[in-house]
Amino acid sequence: MTEQVEIFEMGPRDGLQNEKRLIPTADKIALVDLLSQAGFAHIEVTSFVPPAWVPQMADAAQVMAGITRRAGTRYAVLTPNLRGYQAARAAGADMVAVFASASEGFSRANLNASVDEALARLAPVAAQALADGVALRGYVSVVTDCPFDGPTPPSAVARVAAALRDMGCDQISLGDTIGQGRPETIDAMLTAVLDELPPEQLAGHYHDTAGRALANVDASLARGLRVFDAAVGGLGGCPYAPGAAGNVATEALARHLTAKGFSHGLDMEIITRAADLARALREAPHA
Ligand code: HMG
Ligand code: MG
Repeated sequence: MTEQVEIFEMGPRDGLQNEKRLIPTADKIALVDLLSQAGFAHIEVTSFVPPAWVPQMADAAQVMAGITRRAGTRYAVLTPNLRGYQAARAAGADMVAVFASASEGFSRANLNASVDEALARLAPVAAQALADGVALRGYVSVVTDCPFDGPTPPSAVARVAAALRDMGCDQISLGDTIGQGRPETIDAMLTAVLDELPPEQLAGHYHDTAGRALANVDASLARGLRVFDAAVGGLGGCPYAPGAAGNVATEALARHLTAKGFSHGLDMEIITRAADLARALREAPHA
């Protein structure tokens, strides 16, 4: 039997959050609905963050209310604090994701807090998710390189990943936020993180800014990781990380995994249609 790798779809959140044009809510819902039909186990749909920080996600509640849920898909949302968590719960999120940075510079820019202040802010979110029985995912950003502080020490990534694990995150996604990681730096980072967590509890979240995301996936597959985040059509970036480009494209990752002999269980015909829709949303003329 071929070994299974999960592709965790990020396009509607990590992809669209960076688009300057305000994409109509109905188009976001149409994208999520198409992705649901493709058979993902998880789709990150939106984020409950202040609209002043990420205007594109201001319609989070409407998007969550409008999607058609497929049995077998869990719908995740990103939240920065307890207020976001409560809104995510009210919207019926199956999974909540929290995020922290491995570097001080990116933590300040993205979360307006030091790394330890940000972790302290997440602790009550995690405690509430545990009490409510809601699945909790954690992200560590800038795992190899930070746009403000330069190379990230692997030990800093391991420390933040362990802190998120200790709070109760079921899975920790390791983000090469600005896509500057190389197989060697990803491997060095994983060596430190794998001292703290088993590969089954980790995901790779690689942006493709420098065209190395698939090589970084390969380095991570070799260390036992079997979950990778991707965005259909290669959408994305992070508004608070200068130079960040899209996540690795779901369709490219799926083809790459198939060529390597892994199965991912996705319907490639629908993925192709979703990638076309994602690109059309990005290229649509400004309203
Ligand atoms: P702050 O400005 O220090 O927070 O931001 P605050 O508590 O002072 O709140 C400011 C205002 O927002 C207040 O309103 C709050 O009530 C309101 P005002 O009094 O000014 O009228 N507010 C909220 N509104 C709606 N929803 C909420 C919420 N919370 C407060 N949840 C904060 C601190 C953490 C909130 C902010 O820095 C933040 O949200 N940052 C997130 C920015 C973001 O979304 N970045 C992109 C996602 S991360 C990413 O892409 C990386 C990832 O993909 C992995 C990788 O690639 O590395 C995950
Ligand atoms: Mg990202």
